[in-house]
Amino acid sequence: MKKKIEETGKSMNRETFSTSLTVFFATLGSAVGLGNIWKFPYMTGMNGGGAFILVYLLFVLLLGIPIMVSEFYLGRKTRSNVVGVFNKLKAHKFWKIIGYMGLLSSFLIMFFYSTVAGWVYAYVFRALKGDFRFLGDMGIEEARVASEGIFTDTLSGISPMLWQGFAILLVSVILIGGVKKGIERVTKTLMPILLLLIIISAVRALTLSGAGEGLSFLMKADFSKLKGSSILAAMGLAFFKLSLGMGTMVTYGSYFNKENNLMGTSFKVALSDVAVSMLAGLAIFPVVFTFQLAPEGGPGLLFQTIPLVFSMLPLGNILLIAFFVLTAIASTTAMLSMVEVPIAILTEELKLNRKKAVIIITSLMFMVGVVTTHPDALFGQVQVAGKNFFDLFDYTASNLLMPLGGLLITIFVAYFVKKESIQEELTNGGSIGSGKLVNFYRFVLRYITPLLLIIVFLNELGIISI
Ligand code: PHE
Repeated sequence: MKKKIEETGKSMNRETFSTSLTVFFATLGSAVGLGNIWKFPYMTGMNGGGAFILVYLLFVLLLGIPIMVSEFYLGRKTRSNVVGVFNKLKAHKFWKIIGYMGLLSSFLIMFFYSTVAGWVYAYVFRALKGDFRFLGDMGIEEARVASEGIFTDTLSGISPMLWQGFAILLVSVILIGGVKKGIERVTKTLMPILLLLIIISAVRALTLSGAGEGLSFLMKADFSKLKGSSILAAMGLAFFKLSLGMGTMVTYGSYFNKENNLMGTSFKVALSDVAVSMLAGLAIFPVVFTFQLAPEGGPGLLFQTIPLVFSMLPLGNILLIAFFVLTAIASTTAMLSMVEVPIAILTEELKLNRKKAVIIITSLMFMVGVVTTHPDALFGQVQVAGKNFFDLFDYTASNLLMPLGGLLITIFVAYFVKKESIQEELTNGGSIGSGKLVNFYRFVLRYITPLLLIIVFLNELGIISI
């Protein structure tokens, strides 16, 4: 089988990332995004704090890392997009459903993700104009109300839609550049800056008077506050955070080079991603408690808190600009990987040229995204199954399609791929790592990961109750 794969691989002349470091930054660029800075803090807030984080960590370890390794395996082994993988492995055509579900998730996530990225860019612009300066002269209560007001204002009218268009345009320009000159160049330059800035923000927030309360909210595991739905939410977050279950890591894995360590990269990326989320929590919750905002404030949390952190200190406006610029970077590098999934499918399966594929896909994302996810737009107020489109897209992708895709990927790699093939790919033909670690990974993948996924699904369907 291996011979066949290499033969078909030759004709395609695919691009790869250059070094292990650029692989790390590109993959981390996919994982780190609005999920850490926007979603993780508000979900932790809505689900009671520390206990939620513990459950989340468990999912990262037992589902996230094994599934990431599996996706890298599929991608690098076949050097193919997430639909093509199953052709190359000569698998039953049923498995291609993983690719089609991934395609759908990619669109659903882009619809709402680009909306939030648009808010971020709007905030960059506002910070540049100095719109937040006056917060520093106000009392706590007054500043909180003013900050909430700016957020509501940013969301109304036509301008958020234009900002969404801007965010998507930027992604398409970078993606037209390709894997090395587009994705790699942008991620390797911007990720280190992002990491530095989030550390500075967290350190600053920890000097506020509400720091103690913020910290204990994050660290104290009060399981009585954990709702049944929090378990599914934590699992969905793990998938969303690590960009799993929809072929993103298959696609990026297909651009890895022969020397990359697949298991090592998975560990490093997952752990760094958790660290960034915790830093974002450390930057946000002290502010929440200092300014008496509600920790369960929902999607607006980031936008209402961060201007307050920085507005109160010298040179605050510069830091504020920098923070939103870096959030914009995080959202952009994550979107690159989201959109790369359909691009790889279109260019390889339908032989479309890259530029055409990028334009078709991003235009579609913008057109549907803009009319469904803005409250002021055509379908903005429509509710389906008690949810507006924004929440519906998020829920369907994060809590249903990605975990389901993850389960299928797990079953496929654990039970339908030869052990020797996994051993060979994960140890780079025996030159790195230990066979024991690979066996351990395979054990978790065969018995623990699928079981955990099935339990969470059954719990959600009400068939069992945990
Ligand atoms: N991991 C990204 C984040 O946390 C989101 C993402 C999901 C990116 C799926 C790619 C694919 O923001």
